[in-house]
Order: sequence, then structure tokens, then C-alpha cells
Amino acid sequence: MSGAAVELRMFTRADGSFLTSWIAGPVELMTWAGPTFTWPLDKLQIAAYAAESMTRRRRSWMGVNSRTGQVVGHASVRMNADGAAGRLGRVLIAPEARGCGMGAAMLTHVLAVSFGSLGLERVELGVFSHNDSAVRLYERLGFQVERVLPDVEQVEGQSWSALQMCLAKQDWAPLPGRHHDGSGTTP
Ligand SMILES: CC(C)(COP(=O)(O)OP(=O)(O)OC[C@H]1O[C@@H](n2cnc3c(N)ncnc32)[C@H](O)[C@@H]1OP(=O)(O)O)[C@@H](O)C(=O)NCCC(=O)NCCS
Repeated sequence: MSGAAVELRMFTRADGSFLTSWIAGPVELMTWAGPTFTWPLDKLQIAAYAAESMTRRRRSWMGVNSRTGQVVGHASVRMNADGAAGRLGRVLIAPEARGCGMGAAMLTHVLAVSFGSLGLERVELGVFSHNDSAVRLYERLGFQVERVLPDVEQVEGQSWSALQMCLAKQDWAPLPGRHHDGSGTTP
């Protein structure tokens, strides 16, 4: 297991430049966020996303490498109407920082905040079934597949299926060495 250490800070409109520089094209955009944004990811879409992230409906964060101060990732949770569940999404790690545990470290904090100060009982997500590193990451955090949605998107002539995954608060055990109750972060 890697010793990656990541802190969270609130996502603001100015962080849009990180997102645009980490997403290389329309396929990467679809992989990251599904059909919720359109290519190219422009300032208007970023501004609307940042504005929504300032409401009670959504929390969005940047992940910062605790050792270097480098901004390495992004994630967001959209609250369901009942306030008991939230949908984790927009999970993104800077291309040069992938594969060394940053995603797991960042999402451990996101889940601590979600089950802590946000008071969620359940976190859900959707991921394309061929996105092996993302599926592996979510499984390691304890998410389980609830449903398979076949052929939800057609991308460059290929049919993409999606997995709906979920994690209940009582099933969540923070990865060793990465627990944080969220109180010291600024979600
Ligand atoms: C998915 C993503 C967030 C993962 O971030 P990361 O920092 O690389 O993740 P981690 O290093 O913490 O963990 C990745 C895990 O996937 C595994 N993995 C990597 N590539 C893999 C592959 N091709 N097949 C199977 N597993 C793979 C790694 O070994 C690691 O598992 P381990 O910790 O058990 O060894 C990152 O790759 C990313 O930003 N991708 C583009 C956007 C995206 O797909 N977002 C998710 C949308 S649902």
C-alpha cells in the first residue's frame, strides 16, 4: 500500500484550469463525468459547476498532496433529495499522479466527510464497467456493485456499460493510515 497523503480543499471556479488541463478530449470527459458536461469543457460549464458546488446540493473538492502541496485531484458529492444519500462523482487524479495511491487517499477523506459532517448514510456512484482502475479503486474502498446498466452510452462506435456501486456508512472502514473525520478539512 502506498503512503500517499492527500488533503482536501474546497473547489472554486479558479480550479477549472486544473480540470481542463487534466482532461485531454471528449472520451476522457465522458469517462470522467458521463454525459453531464459537453466537450470542450469551457468556462461557462465550469462556472455553473462551481456555483452548484457552493449550494447545499453539492460539495466539490480539490485534493492536494500533503507532502508537496501540489494539486493532484478532484471529487464531488451530490446530495440526494432525502439528505441521507449522496452520489460521489467527478473523481479525477492528475495524469502524472495516477497509480500511486492518490485516488485512494483523496477518496478516503471524501468518504470521511460524507459519512461525518455531511451526515450521509449511503454513498452511491456510477462508473463505466471498462474503467478498470476506477472500479478497482472503488472496490478497495468498500463499494459494491448494485446494478449493471448495459449500453448506456455510445462512444466512438463502442457501446459503454455502467456499474452502479454503493457503500453504506456501516460498511465503511477507512483504509489503514488514512482515516480522517473531515473536521480538519475545509469541505
Ligand atoms: C480512476 C482514477 C481516479 C484512479 O486514481 P489513482 O490515483 O490512479 O488510483 P490509485 O492509485 O489510488 O488506485 C488505482 C487502483 O487501480 C489499479 N489499477 C490501475 N490500473 C489498472 C488496470 N488497468 N486494471 C486494474 N486495476 C488497475 C491500481 O493497481 C490500484 O489498485 P491497488 O491500489 O490495489 O494497487 C484515475 O486513474 C483517473 O483520474 N482516471 C481518469 C478519470 C476517471 O476515470 N475517473 C473515474 C470516473 S468514475
